[in-house]
Amino acid sequence: MDRARRLEYLRAMGVEAWERRDLPPLAPAIEVAPQADDAPSARRAASPEAPASTTAQPSPASAGATSSGGMASVAGQRRPPASPSAGATEVPSPIAARAADASARTATGGAPATAVISPGRAAGTPVPAETEVHWDALQAEVLSCTKCTLHSTRTQGVFGVGNRRAEWLVIGEAPGAEEDRRGEPFVGRAGQLLNAMLAAIGLPREQVFIANVLKSRPPNNRDPKPDEVAACLPYLMRQIALLQPRLMLAVGRIAAQNLLATDMPLGRLRGQVHSFGELNTPLIVTYHPAYLLRTPADKRKAWEDLKFARSTFQRLASQEE
Ligand code: URA
Repeated sequence: MDRARRLEYLRAMGVEAWERRDLPPLAPAIEVAPQADDAPSARRAASPEAPASTTAQPSPASAGATSSGGMASVAGQRRPPASPSAGATEVPSPIAARAADASARTATGGAPATAVISPGRAAGTPVPAETEVHWDALQAEVLSCTKCTLHSTRTQGVFGVGNRRAEWLVIGEAPGAEEDRRGEPFVGRAGQLLNAMLAAIGLPREQVFIANVLKSRPPNNRDPKPDEVAACLPYLMRQIALLQPRLMLAVGRIAAQNLLATDMPLGRLRGQVHSFGELNTPLIVTYHPAYLLRTPADKRKAWEDLKFARSTFQRLASQEE
């Protein structure tokens, strides 16, 4: 990415390029273009501190691929579990721990990344054909899913998008109106900010995989209900098993609480490297971009989270070299 674009993305994150790294960022600014139908239809991200009324409790259904079936074993090597960040707290995830089968069915490892946010394996070798088959089968299942009532109100399922060799997996809450229309996550105004957030740490959208906890839009962008999360989470677990990301970034309270099976407010989940699933995939939590659009003052905290995620990724990548 050239310097001018990078500076532009940094400005969108409210970061002045000449700031010293040891100083807090300057006042955030929003530079996301307005979108005609965005205000009413963009997903309203839950308040980060709101109670976790929609958090799915660990259950066989929410335990991911253990109950989802349909995914045959995937050839390839299992990457050794990543160790937690030095100086960061590792918090085991009960729900993730129950996703044993999802994690046990390992996907292809891929070449280790060699630089901080280098394209890594994403730009390298293609997805092995047999893994591609599993991705395609999973996508077809998601698009025809009728496991919860949301299928009757959605326009289409939103499977997720991105590089199937990505080392970063970004996980949001659920599709909004624009996503429902276009069949792709994070394409509304919040999506523009998410792109800017990722670009600010040197990650083009095309280099990550982006998915949601729910694959169908809840009517009127209401919060996901626990039974909907329980029905849908197995799909995400299978995506994780196929992708085997080096780092997961949960954006927003709903995604974070459901993945970590906790009621803890988002503020307490930030700033740590959580451990997800049997592969101990590092998981970092930050604010949802839709929340940041409403609360730009918190962009500077999100920027701290992103820098933390970037340095964590860098450390993990260097450990595997
Ligand atoms: N908000 C989300 O959490 N996911 C999307 O795909 C869009 C908005």
